[in-house]
Amino acid sequence: MKLTTKLLAASAIVSATGAFATDLEVTHWWTSGGEAAAVAELAKLFDASGDHWVDGAIAGSGGTARPIMISRITGGDPMGATQFNHGQQALELVEAGLMLDLTDVAEANDWKNKIFPSTLLDACTIDGRIYCAPVNIHSPEWLWLSNKVYEDLGLPVPTNWNEFVASAEAVRAAGKVPLALGNQPWQSNLAFGAMQVAVAGLDNWKAVNMDKNMEVAAGDAYAAVFQAAADARGLAVGSNVQDWNQATNLVITDQAAGQIMGDWAQGEFAVAGEVAGTDYTCLPGLGLNAYLSTGGDAFYFPKLEDAEKEEAQKRLAAMIVSPEAQVAFNLKKGSLPIRGDVDLSAANDCMKKGLELLASGNVMPSGDMLWTPDTQKQVEDLMVEFWMSDMDPAVAHERWVDILSNN
Ligand code: GAL
Repeated sequence: MKLTTKLLAASAIVSATGAFATDLEVTHWWTSGGEAAAVAELAKLFDASGDHWVDGAIAGSGGTARPIMISRITGGDPMGATQFNHGQQALELVEAGLMLDLTDVAEANDWKNKIFPSTLLDACTIDGRIYCAPVNIHSPEWLWLSNKVYEDLGLPVPTNWNEFVASAEAVRAAGKVPLALGNQPWQSNLAFGAMQVAVAGLDNWKAVNMDKNMEVAAGDAYAAVFQAAADARGLAVGSNVQDWNQATNLVITDQAAGQIMGDWAQGEFAVAGEVAGTDYTCLPGLGLNAYLSTGGDAFYFPKLEDAEKEEAQKRLAAMIVSPEAQVAFNLKKGSLPIRGDVDLSAANDCMKKGLELLASGNVMPSGDMLWTPDTQKQVEDLMVEFWMSDMDPAVAHERWVDILSNN
């Protein structure tokens, strides 16, 4: 290692000394109440070192933000750092030589031994070099329920998706929406993704998503997934909201019984002062098959051709992975930390369920890690069509297999 590289790496691990003073614009799509509270923790820590987090929140959703982020980087107007989901979203940017190589920071901070599960670092590694700093593990496979809706009906809170479906008629009769679902395309796609492992089970999920076994994809286990999606489509009628957090809010305010959403929903319940287990219930794997995919968010750092900024970028990368940032950020975000050596005793019941699943290895890689962005987009488009129409589940199933077969 050259001396200058060593110095750079060492400076990346200097903590809160107030010795630095570089502005870095950081783009992300964290604009809901819980998300904003979480991102503020990162900004606070970065600012405490003397550097300055210039917040570049992009409202809408990942689907709105990502093309803006990418076009800024390819169009010569790069930010200092940007969120992506770890996986293949930034692959082309890295391959085009536009992103900063963080391998020295990773080595200086022993990311190889600290980051868990190791698939998170693998997702940042391209040709043996590391290009991102994972910040959290987020899993989409959760059903969130309003306890009050069921108490008011005199019914037990469902313990799984089947009970949830069975209780839906009573929920409807009480003038409430069984399933809250925002209209943005990614949300129905997320619900479908969550149903895959919940309904088809882990072995079938692995066969399709990891081994790309198209016979299993076309078979009965997945026909049941499409049937469950058709049920969900009916239950979501009347949930006229756009953003995911508006849908979560329908559950928080007991206007809807449940929502299939990622664990980031926890941030909204927390901001609203709701208590897990008392006010709301969370069912990983929709209560059927409790496995979580370990996708999430990571920060990437576009090359800026500015030595001072580059040092600040590396300091920020090191900070994001640090135990301090991991605790502060993830407790607010509702996500799990990317390292096992941090103290999350303050975690609520839902986060504890997630931590247990992670510790017991009941996890799988995320779709972002397994399928190209193009395939994922095609599935998302199919899901929009399916959820917005009365498309026969068998037809959707066939079209889905076609898309996967051409990945
Ligand atoms: C996901 C992201 C989460 C969460 C969510 C909704 O893509 O991984 O951090 O914020 O979008 O905005």
